[in-house]
Amino acid sequence: MPHPVKTYLNKGETYQFCNCGKSADGVLCDGSHKGTKFIPTEFIATRNSEFLLCLCKKTTCTWQCDGAHAKREQLDLSFLSD
Ligand code: FES
Repeated sequence: MPHPVKTYLNKGETYQFCNCGKSADGVLCDGSHKGTKFIPTEFIATRNSEFLLCLCKKTTCTWQCDGAHAKREQLDLSFLSD
């Protein structure tokens, strides 16, 4: 399961979060979604800071990592203990 990508964002700037997973960095839209059913999610950074952007695309927080990748890893590995 892909881990989040730490990215510095500038307060007040508008970004487009990649929802298709085809962008070069996997987190910010570069137009690679054209021809797919996906569209990016636009958001504005609320502060100058590093953010953990979701790469597994399972977050419930739109674009920020909420730890969903770790929960999925636990679920995916559970069959190994049998
Ligand atoms: S490149 Fe993935 S949504 Fe635009």
